[in-house]
Amino acid sequence: MSQHLLTVDSLSRESVDHLLRVASRMEPIAQRHQVTRVLEGAVLGNLFFEASTRTRVSFNAAFCRLGGSVCDTTGFTFSSMAKGESLYDTSRVMSGYCDAIVMRHPDQGSVAEFAAATNVPVINGGDGPGEHPSQALLDLYTIDKEFQRLGKSLSGAHILLTGDLKYGRTVHSLIKLLSLYDPLRITLVSPPGLEMPSTLIDLVTSRGHRIEQRDSLGSDFSDLDVVYTTRIQKERFTDEMNESFQGLSDDFMVNRDFLDNRCSQSTIVMHPLPRDSRPGANDLNVDLNGDPRLAIFRQTDNGIPMRMAIFATLLKVDDVIEKDLRSVRWFVPSQTGTLDR
Ligand code: ASP
Ligand code: CP
Repeated sequence: MSQHLLTVDSLSRESVDHLLRVASRMEPIAQRHQVTRVLEGAVLGNLFFEASTRTRVSFNAAFCRLGGSVCDTTGFTFSSMAKGESLYDTSRVMSGYCDAIVMRHPDQGSVAEFAAATNVPVINGGDGPGEHPSQALLDLYTIDKEFQRLGKSLSGAHILLTGDLKYGRTVHSLIKLLSLYDPLRITLVSPPGLEMPSTLIDLVTSRGHRIEQRDSLGSDFSDLDVVYTTRIQKERFTDEMNESFQGLSDDFMVNRDFLDNRCSQSTIVMHPLPRDSRPGANDLNVDLNGDPRLAIFRQTDNGIPMRMAIFATLLKVDDVIEKDLRSVRWFVPSQTGTLDR
């Protein structure tokens, strides 16, 4: 793994497999059975210039669970970028304060520009419509865990990516990560104008995967292993698109009817979240809440061990975790995290 995690392009199949293995060794810590102090004394700078709940808080919690401390900055308003400070200067300053930096920014390429000015490991927490590599890694970790539970193999699996595939950065990272594995069948379904960029389709096809594009969810998906649905990224629309976009039609909505009548009992449902619950958004339907095929909260829980694995690998303590483990001393409910595991 290279010094930073800016794009999944820097990951080989070997380095991804390593991260999956380290994440699984982090599970006892993530599930609050054990504690470690391997990152004692280290400081994380969390710089979020776009809205976030999961990425910001789970990177923060992951660093703390490894024994480090976190300094958080949210929004341009409370950063000196609001006074015109450049990414270069901000990066040089932050490098003097922190041992690792996670950054989310609305402009594609901005996190890489920031990283070029520092020797401190930088993780891209989402750069505009570009990439979200740690999300893709936790998504892959989730698929791997779910497939182990279901006795399935990733090789030859059928994966549906749906929703906003143009601006959804999580699917940009995920499709490239999946393409490192044995040939898959990937189906893409998106509203007109929000299709997956053709450069990504060409890349994945050139690696031997079969990609099919359909214009709705109205056909047979009975051999589907994973449906990964995404929110319409309206915040990235141009004014013209905002005027013409009438909202997501039912043809693209993942709900109980779709899962019961088009998919199978072993199709799992994923979403990077947040799901847009506003009227007319037609995002992933709440009628699937409580259905065991809905993996979205297992997916969010998996963000902690995967982000711990990313820090441990970048800061080179992935070999010493087991030497430093102790049992927790505080009260931990018998089931932590989400209840519908
Ligand atoms: N939370 C994810 C992201 O920041 C997906 C989304 O916002 O829809 O990319
Ligand atoms: N999945 C994800 O990135 O969520 P947030 O936008 O809440 O961080």
